[in-house]
Amino acid sequence: MFRGLMHKGLVLVFSIVISSACLFAEDEKAFEKRAELAAKLLVSCRAIIAQNQDLFNDPAKGDKGFTGDIYVSKVQKHFKDATGVDVSVNDATSTDPIKKILGILLVSSKTVIDENQNVLNMKGRGFKKLIPAIIGRRTGYKYNKALGAGYNLKQTSLQFRNPANHPDSYEKEVLKEFETNGYPIGKGKGEIVTNNDGSKTYRYMLPLYVTSACLKCHGGPKGERDISHKIKEGYKEGEIRGAISLKFPYLSEDLKNSK
Ligand code: HEC
Repeated sequence: MFRGLMHKGLVLVFSIVISSACLFAEDEKAFEKRAELAAKLLVSCRAIIAQNQDLFNDPAKGDKGFTGDIYVSKVQKHFKDATGVDVSVNDATSTDPIKKILGILLVSSKTVIDENQNVLNMKGRGFKKLIPAIIGRRTGYKYNKALGAGYNLKQTSLQFRNPANHPDSYEKEVLKEFETNGYPIGKGKGEIVTNNDGSKTYRYMLPLYVTSACLKCHGGPKGERDISHKIKEGYKEGEIRGAISLKFPYLSEDLKNSK
């Protein structure tokens, strides 16, 4: 009788442990999907800004026709081609947490472009500093403000140009891990971390690599000034330039609506 009860008790304890571990794993998967898509949406934003640098910096042209709406349509296409996922500014009010995050990110970036129309459409001015890193940083500020405490989106690097992009100790470690030989190219890293106060945060980082397009500013000769008057770091193609880094508060009830 006693042994039977013991057995039942053990089975119960065992199944609770297993099911909570599964729940945890499921949560982690939902977080990873959300974080990876958000990071990739910022990659799409950065790519569209990079593709349009010649247009932005053409001193002979006044109105560039590059409104927030045009920008959004280009980002939507790039993101759909890269991930198969549709995103819209209307998703910002969705009850699906993944859609909501992506929608808020898209609206944030659109607002940055809308707010910079005067600079963008200036005639007679060449370089306008509307580069991927700066649009990305300002997009992050708006996204962080819209989502509030616990959420964070930034671009960071071990060799940061702007102190606002400096890595925290966690980001430093992951950036070093990205740089180790054999780390799979393009693979993001996500995990649940426990903070000093016992609260939990889901953290995700996606590596950014140096391509030929980055070299005129981040390449050699090291120490020379680039078009933005910043010091070139002397990176070579293929090296890790930095990462997109995201934080989400770990609220499992918030994941209930996730698909
Ligand atoms: C026109 C010059 C220019 C080009 C081209 C350029 N960058 Fe940058 N990059 C900058 C400037 C300026 C900053 C500082 C931005 C800021 O104020 O946040 C920066 C910042 C960054 C950051 C944030 C960390 C830091 O250093 O503050 C990353 C990551 C980054 N660039 C990656 C890239 C990658 C990857 C490419 C190529 C795909 C690229 N950049 C192309 C000028 C450039």
